[in-house]
Amino acid sequence: MEIIICKNHEEVSEKAKELVVKQLQRKPMSTLGFPTGSTPILLYKKLVDAYKKHLITFKNVRSFNLDEYVGIEPTHPQSYHQFMDDHLFSHIDIEKKNVYLPKNDPTHAHENARLYNDLLKKYQIDLQILGIGTNGHIGFNEPGTPLGQETFVVDLNEGTRQDNLKFFNHIDEVPYQAMTMGIKNIMNSRKIILMASGESKSEAIYQMIKGPVTEQLPASVLQLHPQVIVILDEAAASKL
Ligand code: GLP
Repeated sequence: MEIIICKNHEEVSEKAKELVVKQLQRKPMSTLGFPTGSTPILLYKKLVDAYKKHLITFKNVRSFNLDEYVGIEPTHPQSYHQFMDDHLFSHIDIEKKNVYLPKNDPTHAHENARLYNDLLKKYQIDLQILGIGTNGHIGFNEPGTPLGQETFVVDLNEGTRQDNLKFFNHIDEVPYQAMTMGIKNIMNSRKIILMASGESKSEAIYQMIKGPVTEQLPASVLQLHPQVIVILDEAAASKL
């Protein structure tokens, strides 16, 4: 695990942008794995800028999103489909046919998870970007998820729903289920960047880096991956 400590979230995002730009310049046909949440928003803005400055193109990029809520429409303002369109996809030249996100549809959720998993087996992710939940989750792999888990439909735990309440008006609106790449899918990526900012992430970051590899702190499994870069601001790194 390589650990980079930056002054603030702006620097974290800048560092992550540099790594994504380098990846795309080296391999324009990369398959990228994208997260959502508040952490990557500035990174996406910087990638849009880099695209507009002709430093990179997404024309031959394939993308997979980490996760998506189940049971809300893809057009819902808080769906991850909408998030990705708002922050990245509608501003760059990525082709729609190369963009993959888990489906929101609750009726065929398990079948859709299987199909998504098949795609992930077919196209290995070159560079997976991750955030982290305050309980150490990655994607929506909550504590207790088996480390060999593949894409699945997950019941969100109460703490995670509370953390994501900031994006909704009321807790009753926060979905109860999501579909997520499993830990095994994430670990199958060639390279991983995990970004974290803010004090609220410091305990999870400490456990992820210094604690044992355990299902109770899903991000700790990254200790076993050969190519992980962790980019932290000073607050997220404060317990190290
Ligand atoms: C959600 C997402 C995760 C993300 C986490 C942290 O639970 N499913 O992929 O890493 O939130 O979100 P934030 O970046 O807003 O702290």
